[in-house]
Amino acid sequence: MRKKVTKAIFPVAGMGTRFLPATKSVPKEIMTLVDRPLVQYAIDEARAAGIKEFIFVTSRGKGALEDYFDHAPFLEQELRKSGKTDLLDALKATNMESGAIAYIRQHRALGLGHAVWCARRLIANEPFAVILPDDVIAAETPCLEQMIDAYEETGGNMVAAMEVPADKAASYGILDVEEDMGSVVSVKGMVEKPEVGKAPSNLAVIGRYILSPSVLTNLNKMKSGAGGEIQLTDAIAQDIGTENTVYGYRFRGQRFDCGSKAGFLQATVAFALARDDLRDDLLRYLQEMVQLDKAAQ
Ligand code: UTP
Repeated sequence: MRKKVTKAIFPVAGMGTRFLPATKSVPKEIMTLVDRPLVQYAIDEARAAGIKEFIFVTSRGKGALEDYFDHAPFLEQELRKSGKTDLLDALKATNMESGAIAYIRQHRALGLGHAVWCARRLIANEPFAVILPDDVIAAETPCLEQMIDAYEETGGNMVAAMEVPADKAASYGILDVEEDMGSVVSVKGMVEKPEVGKAPSNLAVIGRYILSPSVLTNLNKMKSGAGGEIQLTDAIAQDIGTENTVYGYRFRGQRFDCGSKAGFLQATVAFALARDDLRDDLLRYLQEMVQLDKAAQ
């Protein structure tokens, strides 16, 4: 039997410069989509996939993120007294079991690969998930749950993959596909941020991974790659062709790049339109805006 994936790393030590000045004092992961911070979407997805241990790789200035997971007994008591059970339930979903959550500091922002490596002692020798909270995925079955189901068949390393237009490939890690089996593809190479026209496929890696501990061993020996950062993609690619080879997984769902302003705004609209209490008013407003914009042209 394959070892169950029960640990997840959430690398949140980046500086979030694309959201300055907001991220001067608010961690990007605490910014809200409708009424939940990005990190809550990530935690809910991990829980649905059976994750029991949540490891955050943080940095200076991320205190608000740690506070977010503290219990709030006074607030809970007030909501209970006033019979606001919906809000009480929403609040309880933010509570973490004592000891289930750990914070590791990445002392220097040396890249995503380095951030994952910082958590190596808490992972030890078992497969683990990595979730980037700024990739938010709307899906009927949460993306990580889909991947864990597929991983139970394949083992090895698995990365979430999504088709991107050729002119966007240079912003992603791109898979060189060996065999396309439908939702799962086996991989013979991975290129981080390929030059325009040099991408080996249109399948891009996005922020969900199930990794073998061998990736941590690879990271032990890594030097910086593209952009002077220690790239996670490079460490995963070193496992290709070994017993822990690499698979891409075409997930069912829509991914929003909430690390960018455009992606964040799109996600805000999409998640608000999915809410019964907001949909009608928002839709009416958006339609009016489109009409006004057309009239102005
Ligand atoms: P990004 O490339 O989005 O960087 O990192 P960033 O710093 O968060 O944002 P910008 O580009 O300055 O606006 C992708 C993920 O990797 C984490 C980030 O926190 C984010 O979840 N990361 C990146 C680290 O944890 N450490 C790093 O050294 C770099």
